[in-house]
Amino acid sequence: MSSLKVLFVDDEPEVLARLKDELQNQGDGWSFAFAESGRKALVAMDIKNFDAIVVDTDMPNMDGPKLLKKVQRRFPGTVRIILSTGMGAEMGLKSLGFAHQALPKSTSPANICMAISRTFRMRDLFLDKSFHRQISRIRSLPTPPPTYRELVKEFQAQEPSIKKIAGIISHDTGLTAKMLQILNSAFFGLPTRITSPLHAVTLLGLDMIQTLALASGVFRQFEVQRMGYITPEWISDHGIAVGKLAKQIAEELELSPEICENSLLAGMLHDVGKLMELAFFRDQFKGAFDTARRDDQLLVDAEREQMGVGHSEMGAHLMGLWGMPNSVVEAIAFHHCPLQAGDLGLSELVTVHIADALIWETYDDLKPQGGGLDKMLIKSLNLEDKIQTIREKLVETIER
Ligand SMILES: [Fe+2]
Ligand SMILES: [Fe+2]
Repeated sequence: MSSLKVLFVDDEPEVLARLKDELQNQGDGWSFAFAESGRKALVAMDIKNFDAIVVDTDMPNMDGPKLLKKVQRRFPGTVRIILSTGMGAEMGLKSLGFAHQALPKSTSPANICMAISRTFRMRDLFLDKSFHRQISRIRSLPTPPPTYRELVKEFQAQEPSIKKIAGIISHDTGLTAKMLQILNSAFFGLPTRITSPLHAVTLLGLDMIQTLALASGVFRQFEVQRMGYITPEWISDHGIAVGKLAKQIAEELELSPEICENSLLAGMLHDVGKLMELAFFRDQFKGAFDTARRDDQLLVDAEREQMGVGHSEMGAHLMGLWGMPNSVVEAIAFHHCPLQAGDLGLSELVTVHIADALIWETYDDLKPQGGGLDKMLIKSLNLEDKIQTIREKLVETIER
């Protein structure tokens, strides 16, 4: 990874002095700078390019969210992290419009550096800086208006049902991703990382979820035009099918409960990059889509040729920025080419790759977007027999 430049902003000189001291041995070849106010931070950024900025929430004159709002506008390519002392939902909402991640103020400098380097690992998968900037600007993903209306209707019911609301959220790729970004931020101070919308809704209660879901700018209902058969609804339905099968595969392989749960989430989110392409990179995506159709090419290859980046890397980059678990981000990044991830054990990447490939085998009328099941991977993990059993079961369920 390239050596990164990181700017820390805190109004308390003692905090900065301690950071300076503790950061001396962190980040291989990284350089750190420090500013005592939002104003000084902006001056520093005018002079020098920073890859990431880490700001305190509570500062006089210009607080953390205000500063990050300016940074987002003026320096969109910079990764924005806010440190919080657990300020509750309101501050969380205000901040996460502008921050990519919120970490507790007590986080050690080593862990802050780790969070930053995680976001850059995925970013380095593609080089085009204008993509980095555009992705870094994305605050929310499109939710189809009917889904949004369904959510509002359930909240307005006499007795809204937690299960139904969690069901609506977990059936939508964009809602799931944004909800988990917010809930896993330090503002909610939840003890463990949440990967399931039902768990999130149960833990936080309906009132809190309602505030989150309906607050302006958090979930954006906007209609995006389809690209052939690809619509937000198709992406969500495909995500659920892949997520459920990936979880089932993880269970059959007797993987840890954590990998089983993460497989469901990673499957749900694996094509989130397509949602980004539909909403934010439409023209480039159209070029790739048309070429794939005309030249009988795989869509993922056409994307890389036309845009220099596939939906998998694009999605992984945003989910990394939003602080999703590493293994989920890896599964998204390499779901079409698992061997490129390097050292492979039985992980979410393997379960999602297999599930995606097997689900594609059931779509008789569509041309595959990726290259299908990686036979070398299956052989190296000794999974040939298992896959055949899973495939037969899947066909049985579909035929039933
Ligand atoms: Fe894909
Ligand atoms: Fe897929």
